[in-house]
Amino acid sequence: MSTVYEAIKKRFSTRGYTDEKLTEEELFEVIDAGLAAPTAANRQELHFTVIPSDNPVLQEIEDEKNKSRGPAAKNFYYDAPTVIIISGDESFGWSALDAGIAAQNIVLAAEGLGLGSLIIGCIKDAMLGEKKAYFNEKLQIPAGYGYQIAIALGHTALAKEPHSYDASAQVSCL
Ligand SMILES: Cc1cc2nc3c(=O)[nH]c(=O)nc-3n(C[C@H](O)[C@H](O)[C@H](O)COP(=O)(O)O)c2cc1C
Repeated sequence: MSTVYEAIKKRFSTRGYTDEKLTEEELFEVIDAGLAAPTAANRQELHFTVIPSDNPVLQEIEDEKNKSRGPAAKNFYYDAPTVIIISGDESFGWSALDAGIAAQNIVLAAEGLGLGSLIIGCIKDAMLGEKKAYFNEKLQIPAGYGYQIAIALGHTALAKEPHSYDASAQVSCL
């Protein structure tokens, strides 16, 4: 178990996974971390769809994405054993931000468990495009909800350094 700050500093986007699946306990913990995230006015309006990599809907989403973006060298979830899609109430103005916060809770919980993760935005147009109703039904996304963000999770097969940054360009201390 690492401290939260250690997990923040160690995390990187994992774009290569082993075949090892998450255990039920790991899956419970990462989902619980998402559910425990703060939401505006405590609305708890987010929905989490957990998708194992053998579910054909992932290839359907990949195919839909590629219609507009062209084929990619790797699929959008880099063959991770688990993908979580977070959807939110489209009538609530904070759903996108709430989903981002929940996503970060999930990736940090994953880091604490020694798992790799990737936040995925590139399927947004595919999820909200002409096949939106079809994908929403397949993914058990509630009525009035729309895709916000996805997260791939698994055991890291391809490590990389966390990104660097320039505090002097991004921070003002008054
Ligand atoms: C909102 C959001 C959407 C992202 N979408 C994708 C994506 O679709 N595909 C991908 O490979 N990485 C995606 N990323 C990962 C970023 O590219 C990555 O976080 C950034 O390059 C910094 O690298 P690091 O996470 O390894 O520190 C996304 C990250 C965020 C926060």
